[in-house]
Amino acid sequence: MIHELFDLTGRVALVSGAAQGVGRAISLALAEAGADLMLADLNEAGAQQTAADVEALGRRAIAVKCDVSDPAQIRPMFERLDSEFGRIDVLANVAGGSVALGPPEDIDIDEVTRSLQGLVVGRFCCCQEAGRRMLAAGKGSIINIASLAGLTALGRGHAAYSTAMGGVVQMTRELSTEWASRGVRVNAIVLAQVMNPGLRARIDKDPRMETQWLRGIPTGRLGEPDDVRGVAIFLASDAARWVTGILLPMDGGNLAMNAGGSYPGGPGITG
Ligand SMILES: NC(=O)c1ccc[n+]([C@@H]2O[C@H](COP(=O)([O-])OP(=O)(O)OC[C@H]3O[C@@H](n4cnc5c(N)ncnc54)[C@H](O)[C@@H]3O)[C@@H](O)[C@H]2O)c1
Repeated sequence: MIHELFDLTGRVALVSGAAQGVGRAISLALAEAGADLMLADLNEAGAQQTAADVEALGRRAIAVKCDVSDPAQIRPMFERLDSEFGRIDVLANVAGGSVALGPPEDIDIDEVTRSLQGLVVGRFCCCQEAGRRMLAAGKGSIINIASLAGLTALGRGHAAYSTAMGGVVQMTRELSTEWASRGVRVNAIVLAQVMNPGLRARIDKDPRMETQWLRGIPTGRLGEPDDVRGVAIFLASDAARWVTGILLPMDGGNLAMNAGGSYPGGPGITG
């Protein structure tokens, strides 16, 4: 039995990036705590699999194919949420696409635009759509997934992504401040390296990368998507009712040791 402070029974959550990784882990965690879910992803089959797994927990789930970098797709998704569920209590902005790596002096400016469109414009639009509904209801919790890259420079070719993640961090602060007195909380979970297929491929290509990253993670391992479950339930639930505007590191201790997203002194790894 779940403690009543963490109980999400009767609540509705929309999670983007729900087909895999952190978004899938958050979706299943919120369902286990009692929430019904709308699951958005570009990967429709993956979102449907997560929906089936949520339903197996006894909760309602609807998978939606939606490019959450595109307001023209985001708005109809929220209209569908209105007609299917009639409320939104939790929004988790998780989806994030591939990261364009390269020296800032060379990076294609279109990649900067793409990062900003996905992480800043698209997420802002999701916050706006959810925020309007939550403000009308006088209650809601928005969870933005951010990155160490939004707080500290990585210095290894991520300038476009870091710039956009800085926007996610500041969006979290601004929206939390604007909406706190009207019952809507906005927080961010700040991730260090959490294993996903993209990271796996890069580590397989150059195993020194994992060694280098682990120098900055005192717990001695990279994150796993399931590490986010408790943090997400906490921020979504009434247990966090006076918690807003925080940037909660889920980083194995990285920020505490001031290691940043990378650690100086490693071999010349640029990934
Ligand atoms: N994994 C890490 O090390 C790490 C570190 C810091 C921040 N983050 C951030 O956390 C979030 C999730 O990371 P993850 O490891 O679970 O990633 P992942 O690549 O495993 O999953 C991302 C999911 O988002 C979906 N997606 C991508 N672009 C989309 C779009 N425009 N519209 C809808 N769906 C889209 C993908 O299809 C995929 O299912 C991302 O925003 C990422 O930037 C991850």
